[in-house]
Amino acid sequence: MKIKTNGERLWDSLMEMAKIGPGERGGSRRLALTDADIAGRNLFREWAADAGCTFRLDTMGNLFARREGKNPGAPPVVSGSHLDTQPSGGRFDGILGVLGALEVIRSLNDQGVETDSPVEIVVWTNEEGARFPPAMMGSGVFAGIFDQSEIYTHQDPEGLTVEGELRRTEQLGDTPCETFPIKAYYELHIEQGPVLEAENTSIGVVTGGQGSTWTHVTLQGQGSHAGTTPMNFRKDPMMGAARIITELREIVLKQPGAVGTVGRLETTPASINSIPGQVFFTVDTRHPNEETLAQINLDLKNLVNSVCTEEGLENEFDLIWEAPTLNFHKECISKVRNAAESLAYSHLDIVSGAGHDACQVNRVAPTGMIFIPCENGLSHDEAENTTPEQVAAGADVLLHVVLASACN
Ligand code: GLV
Ligand code: MN
Ligand code: MN
Repeated sequence: MKIKTNGERLWDSLMEMAKIGPGERGGSRRLALTDADIAGRNLFREWAADAGCTFRLDTMGNLFARREGKNPGAPPVVSGSHLDTQPSGGRFDGILGVLGALEVIRSLNDQGVETDSPVEIVVWTNEEGARFPPAMMGSGVFAGIFDQSEIYTHQDPEGLTVEGELRRTEQLGDTPCETFPIKAYYELHIEQGPVLEAENTSIGVVTGGQGSTWTHVTLQGQGSHAGTTPMNFRKDPMMGAARIITELREIVLKQPGAVGTVGRLETTPASINSIPGQVFFTVDTRHPNEETLAQINLDLKNLVNSVCTEEGLENEFDLIWEAPTLNFHKECISKVRNAAESLAYSHLDIVSGAGHDACQVNRVAPTGMIFIPCENGLSHDEAENTTPEQVAAGADVLLHVVLASACN
């Protein structure tokens, strides 16, 4: 008989964690390195300590909780995700990966299973990038993709820095944030899209991830009086922004599978009876093929330039972050598929539309991901939901891939 996790205990822990930094509609709001985020981490620490784990905190605030193996010198099998959320976030995005890994350790304890390799749970700092861009920050420094001293200077909209907030919240640990030998890394996550639910499938065997880019666009016009300035006298950056944003949809629709999002839009000054002098907005574009994504971004840049010429505006167009398309490790993918198969959970291969800490870790360690369905494919919203049964199936698969990697 295959050993299983305790799905009910995992669900209860997810619901308990969701009470910290509650959202307004039943979700969670724990922006990275806020007091709510730290309270969530502290709850996790209590639980992991009760499960017998020891801790390391690195200089990016990435937290590792370790269960020793028979061979303490062996590279650990690592599993985790993030506890920070979007501003109107759900109860599962990231949290499932952390508490799912905790459930694996609790289950190993319950059943007295010793592994050869140590098993570690990781809580990565600032996966969401909603407060401090970019996303996948802690895992990105860990994997050598971002430079820590540069990342320390990144600011939130209030001008607080990553380093300052790491210090204020006592999350700047003494272990250097750098990669170490890892036997395998696995991350359990909700799909955050509609495919598994539509296919009535329990487990997504994640084969890789699509490419993403984040761009900051600033349009500079002439601020003036809303009542006295005739329409033909105006250099109104909001009209430019409106044209660019609607045309962005057309650019994206020309490329099957592409997505484009304007998630932040800010006017300066923000006043009902002033023409804004400046408009700032963000653009997130994604596609599984890198050339296609590059073409979308080139089309967008050309669009911004031509609209600005026509509207009499200046612009700044800053690509602030790009993440390449990627494939996960063949053996990790097979282990996930085999575990789903042997537990008799329906499964299909899937490419991740979202970014994940696993995408960064993939550069430095054999990595795989497990998806479970989420209701109506919704995520990054408080409506995000899944079921105790789906969560349990995901945790069972995680348990078995961890065992497959840690017991030889
Ligand atoms: C991470 O949540 C992303 O933006 O995909
Ligand atoms: Mn996530
Ligand atoms: Mn997310």
